[in-house]
Amino acid sequence: MNTQSKKPLHVLGIESSCDETAAAIVRRNVDGTGEIRSNVVLSQDAAHAPYGGVVPEIAARAHVTQMDRIVAQAMQEAAIDWNELDAVAATSGPGLIGGVIVGLMTAKAVALVHGLPLIAVNHLEGHALTARLTGNIAFPFLLLLVSGGHTQLQIVEGVGSYTRLGTTIDDALGEAFDKTAKLLGLGFPGGPAVERAAGSGDAGRFDLPRPLLGRNDCNFSFSGLKTAVRNTHAGLNGVSDRDTADLCAGFQSAAADCLRDRTARAMAVFSQRFPGARPPTLVVAGGVASNAHLRAALEELAGERGFAIHNPPPRLCTDNAAMIAWAGAERLVLGETDPLDAMPRARWPLDPAAEPAPGAGVKA
Ligand code: KG4
Ligand code: ZN
Repeated sequence: MNTQSKKPLHVLGIESSCDETAAAIVRRNVDGTGEIRSNVVLSQDAAHAPYGGVVPEIAARAHVTQMDRIVAQAMQEAAIDWNELDAVAATSGPGLIGGVIVGLMTAKAVALVHGLPLIAVNHLEGHALTARLTGNIAFPFLLLLVSGGHTQLQIVEGVGSYTRLGTTIDDALGEAFDKTAKLLGLGFPGGPAVERAAGSGDAGRFDLPRPLLGRNDCNFSFSGLKTAVRNTHAGLNGVSDRDTADLCAGFQSAAADCLRDRTARAMAVFSQRFPGARPPTLVVAGGVASNAHLRAALEELAGERGFAIHNPPPRLCTDNAAMIAWAGAERLVLGETDPLDAMPRARWPLDPAAEPAPGAGVKA
């Protein structure tokens, strides 16, 4: 397997699997380090805000309208010519299928017109490998991926090589943040709004559950926590700003305890499997990983357990195309490209061999 490239590689990345229309140019240096040459992210928040969540049809139409302009802007900001590109990479799943089709078809057109290899990137792998762009992190590492659709612990041994240790058996943590925000009338997107409100709250006022704490596996569950927030809210006699702040702080603190407990268990599994990893490394990725309270809790845990921790900067935790370009560069250097008939995929687990998680409403 060729992991060396004799020249730096430049990859255009395209992301459109949810409600961000994004394009970026990333350079992979010969020594395996990376640089972001441009990273354009157009959020559709305003279009979805009236509905309190992402509307797939609106998202797909907005991607169609904006994608060409965003790609042109990424090329311009990187001050790069089409003939200097080595490949074009696009998210090909998992995600909202209408949006995925827009990004993948755009990448296919670019590949065809400019004679470039196409790389069909798994969005989750984009999140997973960001740490190698921002921190040059070596394999193997333990990954905690926390986003709007996924909450997983994975051992990452290489590009395309994942072993799922745990996943949510109901809601993803980002989804729980978004639903909590909606319930409390904090608007959309919910995660940052809950974090802001929690800043002035008392996390100890309400007694909220920590689902699956102490369980002998690495799975997560957040629907009971979400329901407890709803019931507590319903039991209040008029809801003041203080009540909202205290509920947000309580929710965030319970979420942090769950992440700590489940990740600690995965750390033990990782250390047993890779006793030679010095130091063993925890990578935290996905939109929820931009939350400062959760980042601090996981940093503390890593310190206690002798793990190094790498948490990409917040703007590279939430959806962006630099992570897709980088995952594309990582695959390009291994000679892994895709045919022009590559298919968009609504579902695409990182570890296809993983057993289905117990319980209903399972996220892959
Ligand atoms: O990775 P991402 O941008 O998109 C997906 O692939 O899902 O993650 C989006 C999720 C949303 O649920 C959003 O509310 C959450 O990440 N999020 C946060 C924060 N910023 C974004 N959750 C908690 N605190 C934040 N600061
Ligand atoms: Zn994402």
